[in-house]
Amino acid sequence: MKSSSVSKLLLFFFTVLFCCSELTHSTVTYDRKAIIINGQRKILLSGSIHYPRSTQQMWEDLIRKAKDGGLDVIDTYVFWNYNFEGRYDLVQFIKTVQKVGLYAHLRIGPYVCAEWNYGGFPVWLKYVPGISFRTDNGPFKAAMLGFTKKIVQMMKNEKLFQSQGGPIILSQIENEYGPESKALGAAGRSYINWAANMAVGLDTGVPWVMCKEDDAPDAVINACNGFYCDYFSPNKPYKPTMWTESWSGWFTEFGGPNYQRPVQDLAFAVARFIQKGGSYVNYYMYHGGTNFGRSAGGPFITTSYDYDAPIDEYGLIREPKYGHLKELHKAIKLCEHALVSSDPTVTSLGTYQQAHVFNSGTRTCAAFLANYHSKSTARVTFNNNHYDLPPWSISILPDCRTVVHNTANVRVETSEIQMLPTNSKLFKWETYDEDLSTLAETSRITAAGLLEQINVTRDTSDYLWYITSVDINPSESFLRGGQNPSISVESAGHAVHVFVNRQFIGSAFGTREETSCTFNGPVNLRAGTNKIALLSVAVGLPNVGLHYETWKTGINGPVLLHGLDQGNKDLTWQQWSYQIGLKGEAMNLVSPNGVSSVEWVQESLATQTQQQLKWYKAYFDAPEGNEPLGLDMGSMGKGQVWINGESIGRYWMAYAKGECNSCTYSGTYRSTNCQLGCGQPTQRWYHVPRSWLKPTNNLIVVFEELGGDPRKISLHKRTLHAPASAAQSHSKN
Ligand code: GAL
Repeated sequence: MKSSSVSKLLLFFFTVLFCCSELTHSTVTYDRKAIIINGQRKILLSGSIHYPRSTQQMWEDLIRKAKDGGLDVIDTYVFWNYNFEGRYDLVQFIKTVQKVGLYAHLRIGPYVCAEWNYGGFPVWLKYVPGISFRTDNGPFKAAMLGFTKKIVQMMKNEKLFQSQGGPIILSQIENEYGPESKALGAAGRSYINWAANMAVGLDTGVPWVMCKEDDAPDAVINACNGFYCDYFSPNKPYKPTMWTESWSGWFTEFGGPNYQRPVQDLAFAVARFIQKGGSYVNYYMYHGGTNFGRSAGGPFITTSYDYDAPIDEYGLIREPKYGHLKELHKAIKLCEHALVSSDPTVTSLGTYQQAHVFNSGTRTCAAFLANYHSKSTARVTFNNNHYDLPPWSISILPDCRTVVHNTANVRVETSEIQMLPTNSKLFKWETYDEDLSTLAETSRITAAGLLEQINVTRDTSDYLWYITSVDINPSESFLRGGQNPSISVESAGHAVHVFVNRQFIGSAFGTREETSCTFNGPVNLRAGTNKIALLSVAVGLPNVGLHYETWKTGINGPVLLHGLDQGNKDLTWQQWSYQIGLKGEAMNLVSPNGVSSVEWVQESLATQTQQQLKWYKAYFDAPEGNEPLGLDMGSMGKGQVWINGESIGRYWMAYAKGECNSCTYSGTYRSTNCQLGCGQPTQRWYHVPRSWLKPTNNLIVVFEELGGDPRKISLHKRTLHAPASAAQSHSKN
């Protein structure tokens, strides 16, 4: 009797112990069906939100919106090229995910691509002796190990892995290595094996993922990235089918179109992946956000990283994208038990129609009825019932009878988002000409020939001056009425402004696809010494491409004068001096506490000088309310803008060219994005986070390269606008 009650007590004790240790040290594993958390297979819906692309003050709201939208997981890359403070505070971000009650997927990389400066690598990495990026190279592997270890340790210290009771259920090592691996052959394979072993050796207690890497070594799950992934199967039968990047739209580049991915197509793609047996979907991006400062990569990636995501750049819900996906998520979750406990039986319902039925044998049956025809609705019979399937859609029947969702049937109203003027005026513009008079005299770097830009600047500034001089013989015939000579300047990228004797001659710009550019134009030379100054401008360092660390930026020559009496004069190999950055940057003009010795001139009194490169500043009060704010930079050319010393980012009124204003989604993979905005600047609006403002006396500083007019810059509120109520409130004002 007695012994039996003792054993009961012991049993109780061990049950409690087991149960509680399970709770606090839950395990994450996987099998061929799904990620398994605490012994349960899960269908996981995830969304990418990159912590530095919004402010700390915005995080909780964004993550709550993601949760309300039906997500289970927040996915973020880790960005190596920054410290871990402010909006780079990764630990705080993951803790916010935990606070809201979601899981996290930590994509450590450390190579991340992501349209981020240098793909996330710090620029110093390039200068480690003997380094070669992303291959079987000792110095690179040592640096990558150091960083990955550091991040893992940082998370462990805060108990952020699920194995420690934290929210992180997955980690990613590398990023889309597949194409590199193919190009590099044996070295690529041995590197990726090393990376997998290294990561697994860090003992996080949660699985590792590699995306777009079909050769992902065992233990590491390979996952798919794309507009569609239903063609994808993992490389081993015992790994789950995961989609790490389901592209919700696309990024923008200055001079390119804006993209919109219709939510019907996105929902169709997701349902199609789930019906095939997929159990993890991550939206890239769920909230794209902003490339503040000089964090945009590319080159030429815009400051906005809106991505046509369900939560827009400013943190507002974008309908119908958000709401329609929320309904889809609910429908999928109603099927979860059937999905994780059985494999689909696929039957044909017509030439273009199929049923995927998940029948777990016990109590649950879920069906996905698909119509792959891109134009016509189909009437199908399934389990003796009739169903009308709109073109290019999937109906979800969590009980194999009732349709709770059809991916093409959007029931959510479209939100009207507007940029409304505020009463906040930008007062008293003042101006300061970037000082070109002392160029070269103050330069401490000189060389015979043209230096590679990033080698010189180490990316501390977008700007590098290349300065030289040329002596013109008074006997030259052009000085006596002959035809003016011209200059040609070849640059590896990304943009160049040409000055001769401090006079602006013209500019040339590359594009993301073709970063190099050539300037060609007539020059006014005088007898005697002429000063040639070339301002080379980087517009974000490359983030993707085989060995992009070897790519060049800056003036690479030749630099030639044409049309002199002797023919051409080659300036390429003569003596050049260099100035890193602008004088205004060196003087910290952007900071509210900057040097005051600069003589700003009131814009209204400023004489219209020939000077092309100008600084502007003004003060303003914060607009009332709490709507997100955007600057209208439509009157400007190209440059950078700061508010209270914080960089809003690069701006550029580059107009969208090429094939756009078209929207084709004909039913083939990839033709799923609409390209819009032809003939308009790719990005006119620039996000000003509310938390960067004080109630009064905020300082805006602009550096303008192309002669824009700052007096028309204005601050607007981004407002979710219901048409009827909007009309009313307008008439009240
Ligand atoms: C993927 C890459 C992401 C991002 C995306 C395009 O290939 O993994 O980091 O660059 O393309 O936005």
